[in-house]
Amino acid sequence: MATSRGGAAPAWWRGAAIYQLYVRSFADGNGDGIGDLAGVRARLPYLAELGIDAIWFNPWYPSPMSDAGYDISDYRDIEPVFGTLADADALIAEAHSYGIRIIIDIVPNHGSDQHPWFQAALAAAPGSPERDRFWFRPGRGPGGDLPPNGWQSIFGGPAWTRVDGPDGTPGEWYLHLFAPEQPDFNWANAEVRAEFEDILRFWFDRGADGIRIDSAALLTKDPSLREAAPDEPPGPAHPYTDRDDVHDIYRSWRAVAEQYDGRVLIGEIWLPDAARLARYLGPDELHTVFNFPYLCCPWDALALRQVIDTTRELHAPAGAPATWVLSNHDVDRHVSRYGRPDTSFDMGARDHSQPVDVELGTRRARAAVLLTMALPGAVYVYQGEELGLGEVEDIPGELRQDPIWHRTGGADPGRDGSRVPLPWSGDAPPFGFSPAGAAARPWLPQPASWSGLTVEAETGDPDSMLELYRSALRIRHTEPGFGDGPMSWLPADAGVLWLRRGDGRLQMMANLSPAPVDLPEHVVVLLASGPLPGGKLPPDTAVWLRAAADHR
Ligand code: NOJ
Repeated sequence: MATSRGGAAPAWWRGAAIYQLYVRSFADGNGDGIGDLAGVRARLPYLAELGIDAIWFNPWYPSPMSDAGYDISDYRDIEPVFGTLADADALIAEAHSYGIRIIIDIVPNHGSDQHPWFQAALAAAPGSPERDRFWFRPGRGPGGDLPPNGWQSIFGGPAWTRVDGPDGTPGEWYLHLFAPEQPDFNWANAEVRAEFEDILRFWFDRGADGIRIDSAALLTKDPSLREAAPDEPPGPAHPYTDRDDVHDIYRSWRAVAEQYDGRVLIGEIWLPDAARLARYLGPDELHTVFNFPYLCCPWDALALRQVIDTTRELHAPAGAPATWVLSNHDVDRHVSRYGRPDTSFDMGARDHSQPVDVELGTRRARAAVLLTMALPGAVYVYQGEELGLGEVEDIPGELRQDPIWHRTGGADPGRDGSRVPLPWSGDAPPFGFSPAGAAARPWLPQPASWSGLTVEAETGDPDSMLELYRSALRIRHTEPGFGDGPMSWLPADAGVLWLRRGDGRLQMMANLSPAPVDLPEHVVVLLASGPLPGGKLPPDTAVWLRAAADHR
């Protein structure tokens, strides 16, 4: 088992509860309608009370915000709308004083078109060292009018954009797997490699405890620019996905991380195939990867059990802990997902036309969090899921900001619905997101129906999602059997998941079948996601128990 450097204690990240904080939408300290670091600092006591171990910040760097901060123009500073580097330093120190660690988002696949390197590349000639940091290529066809190949952008439309030469005539094309404002770096270039290692050191030196690596499987590309079918979506077989030479990069990053105490490298890798995800893990590569197969899994006992088993089997050889994720800023919030006829999630087929049964989705989300937090490894909580927020599906088109919405002409609703500013207090928008009297409205509109889902409304209400999360996180901390460690299944009826942790007396049962089932014998119910009428476990309900004896 990996340990913290110099100590026998298990490394903190192996069983951590990590809160994903989307700065723009967390809390607005200065009244401009956009969340900021001052807002986060003011709410650190809330996060400490919630009981999380670490915060992962979505990108907080200077950015033109063409993709909500995933287009970075300076990797060593803070976006002025969010605050200053001094604010970040203070925030890191304050979080540490609460025992909360800080993970930051590193975006190595692409920068912003406003990044000084890209501006220098635009000003430089074809074939120059400045252009070699990116993917500049001449076009095909007469006059080079056609893109170098037919690769499609993950956000829709071609993955190539043409630039003008110094004399104003059309020149080379550059590659962008995402929006045109996000040119891809060329990872075959030594300067790019050195630059990012330096960025890692910059933030580790400032106290960051780990990094989340954006689009981690995409960095290296087939230099032959092998053609893919024009309509082939980015995926496992695509020439820009998951190449063997990407692993060298993470081996050298791991070497950097090892020079610091307890730093963690977390990969964001959208591969549907768990076996390919696991190839990034190991003692000389990434510590953990996000578990997207679990996030995408439907609310179905067999399917969930299969994902859980596969995840664990594939993580075991690397000695890496699994991660368990239900929601994030790119996917539909799971209260809504679990309330739809189709409870799975597919990034390529986001569907907001399905009816949502919010009551059912909420009941399942409550059960899902007890299942998830009982699993061995680390768990992620995406801001707002602890309040039971659903996907906001009715944002007017003219207020939507996501490039996915714009680049698909609205065919894909995009991700704004999971990024709506949090409701903290009060009966009406901005629900305490901005300070009283703020002139600016929250950057995305909050539904009026959130008045019952504010932190204020839920605090102290034993039936609220917030109190369920607080209790679950507290028990997960105090029960030594939870977090990283052994787990095994106990025999259960169809549609029921029953597992044991620790000494075997610590158990979780989730009923995903349509009928109530008997609770196993137990000494005490530690936590239940809903009422247990007649001592039975109703459908879409889960429970944590301590049994009198190990049932193995
Ligand atoms: C994955 C991030 O989570 C997403 O929000 C972003 O748009 C893409 N990578 C591109 O950086």
